[in-house]
Amino acid sequence: MRTGWESMKKLFVVTVASEKGGVGKTTIATNLAVYLKALHEDLPVTIASFDNHFSVDHMFALGPRPATGMHELLTGSPSPELVGLGQYGVQYIASARRLSPPDATPKSLRARLDALDLDGILILDTRPILDWFTEAALLAADLVLTPVKDRASLLNASALRAVLADAGRSERLWLVPSLVDTRARLNSEVRVGDFLTFSARERDYQVVDLMISKSPRVESLASGFASRIRPVLTHARQTAVHGQLRALADFVLSRRAAAPPAPEIASVVPGSPPFFRRLVAECPVCAERAIAANGHPFFDLRSRRQGLIHPECFSELLNECELGMLAGPEAMLVMELAGPGMIDEEAELQLHLFDSGNRLVASERVIDPGQGHFRGVLEGLTGRRWQATLREWVLVAGESGSLERLSRRAEREAFAMRRRLVLREAMGKLR
Ligand SMILES: Nc1ncnc2c1ncn2[C@@H]1O[C@H](COP(=O)(O)OP(=O)(O)OP(=O)(O)O)[C@@H](O)[C@H]1O
Ligand SMILES: [Mg+2]
Repeated sequence: MRTGWESMKKLFVVTVASEKGGVGKTTIATNLAVYLKALHEDLPVTIASFDNHFSVDHMFALGPRPATGMHELLTGSPSPELVGLGQYGVQYIASARRLSPPDATPKSLRARLDALDLDGILILDTRPILDWFTEAALLAADLVLTPVKDRASLLNASALRAVLADAGRSERLWLVPSLVDTRARLNSEVRVGDFLTFSARERDYQVVDLMISKSPRVESLASGFASRIRPVLTHARQTAVHGQLRALADFVLSRRAAAPPAPEIASVVPGSPPFFRRLVAECPVCAERAIAANGHPFFDLRSRRQGLIHPECFSELLNECELGMLAGPEAMLVMELAGPGMIDEEAELQLHLFDSGNRLVASERVIDPGQGHFRGVLEGLTGRRWQATLREWVLVAGESGSLERLSRRAEREAFAMRRRLVLREAMGKLR
């Protein structure tokens, strides 16, 4: 029975992209964040931008400029500290003056975003070119909004569609008629906005059932010399754009509701004592409940998830590798993964075996870990989908015990101490 157990959080990523400049991307992205938050106070909303205009910062920054931001998201190991709480209850990641594409494929961005441990909705604003960053933002997205204001921007949308189609995701792309002069007519019968929508649908695009009108009042919010950019919600409520952005926020929420639910990976038991804050109820090998009986304690360094592996499941795991034969009862098994989020398809998994004195006994490289049994096991251990794994370290104790025993203070401290020693050894000496 899974009732009452905390299910996995899932982040819904909305990317606003267009190869054409000045179509309203940033205006839509920033205001969408404000409207989503205003509609749902409890929904965490985060925004980040790949451009260097600092519009996101100019609308949302509170207090001094954060020391880290988009640059750190793309390099090193991304952590929740990159996200700051900003104005209007919206969280944001500080923009960077200069970003260089990291040495990874654009596909790897989603794993980095997932590593921020965000919940709710993340909005990504992009540059008006289809570079590494825009491609990465497209591939990370659950929903892509592409503002189109004229025929040229409509034609440009095909390059974005190609990137998504290549990943089998064209259905995530939605066009938003933007900066539409609602009074302008193409001829005596057809309005420009309607013509845009019609042409887009004719080209087989999904088009949201609304348009963002061109409004001098909205334009004035971002111009002038003031360093603050004001949202439509607070400073242009009397305009048609106010209702349109609200409708766009509703549209985003409806797409989020329609998205498939997060696949359940072994769940965390709520209300556990602080030292078992991330206690996983199931065995990561067989996905059956494991904490009621004896098992091998495991610990995942990044998520700090802990739990037990059934003794028979642990033996099965050892049987799949050569070094299993060398494992004594007080051994410690360390799994070191460089996952697809880190190095792509060619994930690398190393197993290291330590003896009771915390000395390295043997190491082994698992061939093609993405194909075998270890893949599912690592998902259960880390609580992440395979594609979202980065550099991960997981320890499993060779000695089994009960949760009750493991929760005794002396046992906990001994296990924590061994973890530190073994990890230090593994991270230091093996390099
Ligand atoms: N609905 C609107 N009515 C009037 N002006 C608007 C509207 N939306 C955006 N603008 C103005 O149009 C200009 C371009 O908008 P914005 O910066 O949002 O576009 P962008 O696509 O992000 O541009 P870039 O490609 O340069 O990043 C800005 O001056 C902005 O204030
Ligand atoms: Mg912009």
